[in-house]
Amino acid sequence: MSAIKLREGVWSVGVLNPSLRVFDIVMTSPYGTSYNAYLVTGGEKTALIETVHKDYFDQLVGNIQEVLPLEKLDYLIMNHTEPDHSGSVRALLERCPNLKVICSNPARKFLNAIANEDFPCQVVKDGDTLDLGGKTLTFLSAPLLHWPDTMFTWDPADQTLFTCDFLGAHFCEPTMVDTGIQAEYRGRYEAELKNYFDCIFGPFHPAVLAGLDKLPAEARLVCTSHGPCLTAATLERAKDCYRQWAAPQPRSAVKTAAVVYCSAYGCTKALAEAMAAALTEDGLQVTAHDVVFDDPAALTGLVNDSDVVLFGAPTLNRNAPEAIWDAVHAVDAINTRGRAAGAFGSFGWTGEAPGMLHEQLRQLKLAVPAAPFKVCFVPTQADLEAAAAWARSVAALAKGPEAPAAPAPAKAKKYVCSICGYIYDPAAGDPDRGAAPGTPFEALPDDWTCPLCRMGKDKFEPVD
Ligand code: FEO
Repeated sequence: MSAIKLREGVWSVGVLNPSLRVFDIVMTSPYGTSYNAYLVTGGEKTALIETVHKDYFDQLVGNIQEVLPLEKLDYLIMNHTEPDHSGSVRALLERCPNLKVICSNPARKFLNAIANEDFPCQVVKDGDTLDLGGKTLTFLSAPLLHWPDTMFTWDPADQTLFTCDFLGAHFCEPTMVDTGIQAEYRGRYEAELKNYFDCIFGPFHPAVLAGLDKLPAEARLVCTSHGPCLTAATLERAKDCYRQWAAPQPRSAVKTAAVVYCSAYGCTKALAEAMAAALTEDGLQVTAHDVVFDDPAALTGLVNDSDVVLFGAPTLNRNAPEAIWDAVHAVDAINTRGRAAGAFGSFGWTGEAPGMLHEQLRQLKLAVPAAPFKVCFVPTQADLEAAAAWARSVAALAKGPEAPAAPAPAKAKKYVCSICGYIYDPAAGDPDRGAAPGTPFEALPDDWTCPLCRMGKDKFEPVD
């Protein structure tokens, strides 16, 4: 792909990858993708926004040099540092040692470990500007869209916004603009927009809504880092879709439980049914889901939206079957921290599966009971009653109302998030999420996370 002029002084200089079929190991990309990068020139200075995957560095350089010599680059703006965008940073710095990198504080930390060498860098925060001469760029912090480092770059002179992954899609469109998408491919592009949203922004709905509110209303062109740039009609539709997809789902008025299981000879199924019956009797809204025979499309919602999730499986050759591991892998570990969960199963010889599942749930920071529940071969009536009691004990781990915060000790310490730089101030607390002003950091619940980047308490350090 050659450089494509989008506006006066704004070029697309990224690279197409039409043959890619799996992105980031886990995400299908049936229409390929593009690693987008943009060149913005002012009267005095020039900025490159993003680089590309390291395998395409030479193409990036070729595209830039269609517009200007590489040595004329003054700034490299990194809106986000995932290696599909930062993979060429080191190679570019070797060619342009005086290039100044502009990025957020978390991005700087990530780039240090990606480039593995020192480089000129200017850390910017929300609202900071960069004057290119007759064209001033503004940086808008957009954490968790979809990394803690993410920011947008706004070019008001051209009414152009650079959003990195936000509003992007894996869709290889050689014109690099949505108006180039042929009519018969329009529906496929929109399907990929949704696929991208689900895979990339699925765990970050609150951040998506915050990001939408941050988009300048005057933006007429949105330059993403994958897929075609969005002009007015597509932009408005994409914004509406994002707002709809990210909207909070109404919670059930009653506590819900999912009993997710597989069963070779009906023994684990009998346990699952006893547990489901007990929780139903206690007033929970229970869904029993056989991961082999029931609708796979329902699984993700069940394991992530239920107040209590029980995973059951027999043991096959000292492991749990793949189908139940897939169910555990469907857990959105970012948003289900502290959710009540447990593992159970019937076994014949050794019975490792419930313990392995239990350990995995614990590592995902779900609230698990002291031990999994397991039974050798066919459960007796006493076993079924014990299974019911165990399920009730797991359901009891589901959160009740928040306890009032303990009063802050004198001179309670502030803590800083080592990932994004957010400072927790006990005097202010985090009232939006139940921590009243005066709550010391140490008194925050174990599942409390950074309001900006959602990292856990273990990523915080005291401020001296
Ligand atoms: Fe396209 Fe999050 O990188």
